[in-house]
Amino acid sequence: MDSHLRSDTTETSHFLDPAALELRDALTRLPRTLPPRWLYDDRGSELFSQITSVPEYYQTEAERSILADHSAVIAESTEATTVIELGSGTSDKTRTLLDAFVAHGLIQRFVPLDVSEATLLDAAEMLVERHPEIEVEPVVGDFTRHLHLLSAVPTAGERLVLFLGGTIGNFYVEERRAFLGALADVLAPGDWVMVGIDLVKPIDRLIAAYDDEQGVTEAFIRNALTNINRTYDGDLDVGNFGYVPFWDGRQQRLDMRLRACDPMTARLDGLDLDLELAAGEEIRVEISSKFTPERTVEELAEVGFDAESQVFRDDAGDYAVILARRS
Ligand code: AVJ
Repeated sequence: MDSHLRSDTTETSHFLDPAALELRDALTRLPRTLPPRWLYDDRGSELFSQITSVPEYYQTEAERSILADHSAVIAESTEATTVIELGSGTSDKTRTLLDAFVAHGLIQRFVPLDVSEATLLDAAEMLVERHPEIEVEPVVGDFTRHLHLLSAVPTAGERLVLFLGGTIGNFYVEERRAFLGALADVLAPGDWVMVGIDLVKPIDRLIAAYDDEQGVTEAFIRNALTNINRTYDGDLDVGNFGYVPFWDGRQQRLDMRLRACDPMTARLDGLDLDLELAAGEEIRVEISSKFTPERTVEELAEVGFDAESQVFRDDAGDYAVILARRS
């Protein structure tokens, strides 16, 4: 690997913040990748929200229907007083769930955590209006980095942490384990976690969901480079890349890449980085792993969420929400 670290790694790296260092590292080592958070600037959040309504993308609707059908049972079986949502975004689907918790009568507090402050505050305002009886305490943070912020949230009873939308699919296996382990560490015995997972299914449907007719997914993936150019004063030629989505059957995941058509160089001043890509060289922008409920229940159990697990599926069997408790 060391042989791939080129002269773009210089002494000034000591002055880059952790997110910049992580990005530079991801772009520099081979295979080149991007941390998923670069997908979600304001434009990216807007494009993602468009993705949720393209006909090929079934996940959002599937999860919504699961929450609509099972929220009351979930509120009853967890009896959580604090509900925390990681990567909450617009807290759109969470509304149904919170309605059920409020109706059940034990919830005191909702804590949405997201990297996008604007989105977070909008969502919080909407929820405060809808449920004046509970406290809404937004936390601006990155769930891969700032889980420790959750230990500061006061709680009288049990907590329920929501990690919805299939977001867990963006992690690589080792990252996923580290993340779930860290989450188990900030929670206490008796606390709950609820994870939304997209299920393994026929390849053509999976590919279609990430290569929609309207090209919204492609625009979403490309926007990550635009975001990086803007943030780090870069000149990556976004138009020189082709979008390459494919199914990696071995790893059971979608792999979404951008491939340089012509050889290119780019300068990212804010990262003190000169990138050189050969024709055909790729940057893996995002992965989206697909799961089986059985295996996910096991993975949760391995880090300590090994009690009272329940699996909720949508009618078509496309998607599942898993609830589990820390013992
Ligand atoms: C929000 C991470 C669940 O992986 O399906 C949608 C993001 N990327 N289309 C997913 C996404 C391309 C989405 N998650």
